[in-house]
Amino acid sequence: MKILGVETSCDETAAAVVEDGRRILSNVVASQAELHARYGGVVPEVASRKHLESIIPVLEAALETARCRLVDLDAIAVTHGPGLPGSLLVGLNAAKAIALACDLPLLGINHLEGHLYANWLGSGQEPSFPNLTLIVSGGHTDLVLMEGHGRYRPLGHTLDDAAGEAFDKVARLLGLGFPGGPAIERSAVGARPNLRLPRARVTGPYDFSFSGLKTAVLRLVRGELGNVPPAAETAAAFQEAVADALATKIVRAARDGGAAEILLSGGVAANSFLRETVAARSPLPLRLPPPSLCTDNGAMIAACAHYRFQAGQRDGLDLDIQPGLRIG
Ligand code: KG4
Ligand code: ZN
Repeated sequence: MKILGVETSCDETAAAVVEDGRRILSNVVASQAELHARYGGVVPEVASRKHLESIIPVLEAALETARCRLVDLDAIAVTHGPGLPGSLLVGLNAAKAIALACDLPLLGINHLEGHLYANWLGSGQEPSFPNLTLIVSGGHTDLVLMEGHGRYRPLGHTLDDAAGEAFDKVARLLGLGFPGGPAIERSAVGARPNLRLPRARVTGPYDFSFSGLKTAVLRLVRGELGNVPPAAETAAAFQEAVADALATKIVRAARDGGAAEILLSGGVAANSFLRETVAARSPLPLRLPPPSLCTDNGAMIAACAHYRFQAGQRDGLDLDIQPGLRIG
C-alpha cells in the first residue's frame, strides 16, 4: 500500500511516498529557511508564495525518486492543520487536485500526529502502547499519552512559548541566526556552560514554560546581570535548561502514565543535547527518529495516513484547512 504524503504547514514544501506506513520510497523536502533567514523568522506571505513555486517540482521529485506513477498510489494524504493558513492551503489544494484527477482516496492529517508517526518509519519493531510522546516543535510542546493508533490523552503542554520558538527567539537575541535551534546547537558545541539559567516553576505537573528563560537570556545579553558571557556559553546554558525541563517532565509523565516506552518527535527532537539528556534519564526504552525525520517532512504524514486509512478515514473534497488544530 503506497501513500503520497504532502506537507506545507510552515516553511518546508515536502512530499514523500511511503509503503505500508513504514518504508520510505522517497522523501523530498524543499526548505525555505534561507529565504526567511533575512527576516529572522518565517514570513507567512513569503512562505505561501514559495510553496506555490515549489509544490509541483517537489511532488514530481517525490514520485520520480520512488519510481512511482500517480496510478500506482493507493491514497494521498496532506497536512490540513495546524499551521499557517496560506501555507496549508497550497498543499491541501494540490492534494485535492490529485485526488480528484486520479480518483484517489484523500486523507487530511494532523501535523502533530504526523510528527509522532516519524517513530513508525523504518524497520524494526513498531512502538508499543501506551507510549509517552513528546511533540516538540516550533509551534508546539505537547506531552501526550498515546494509547493506540489515533487514541491520544493529552497530559501537558507549554503555557507560553513552544520550545522551538524559544530556541528561535534566543538565537536571535544572541545574534546566531535563523533557524535558531540548529544555530544554538552548533554554537554550544564545546562551550562550557559556566552559567545556570533559571528553571520555570509551573503548577501543572506535566506543563512547561519557556518565556522566563527567554527573559533571563535577554537580561544577560543586556548586561543586567554582570559581564555579558560569550554567546556560545549562553547558548549552552539555554540548551541545557530546555533539555532539563523537557526530560524532567517526560520521565515523570511516562512513569505516572504507565507508558511502555518514550517517543520524541518534532523539530527540537533533532537536538543532540536533548536526545542525550533524555536517553540518559529515561527509565524506559526510548525512540528517536533520525534528525531529518524530526523536522517537517512528507514521510511522517504518509506514515500517519497509513494507520488512518486502515481505520477507515476518507475525506471528501470539502476537506478544509484547520490552522488551530490540536491533538487529542
Ligand atoms: O517540527 P518543525 O520542523 O516545524 C514545526 O512544526 O514547527 O520544528 C521547527 C523548530 C524550529 O523552532 C527549529 O529552531 C527547531 O525546530 N529545531 C531545533 C533543531 N532543529 C530544528 N531545535 C533545537 N535543536 C535543533 N537541532
Ligand atoms: Zn512540524
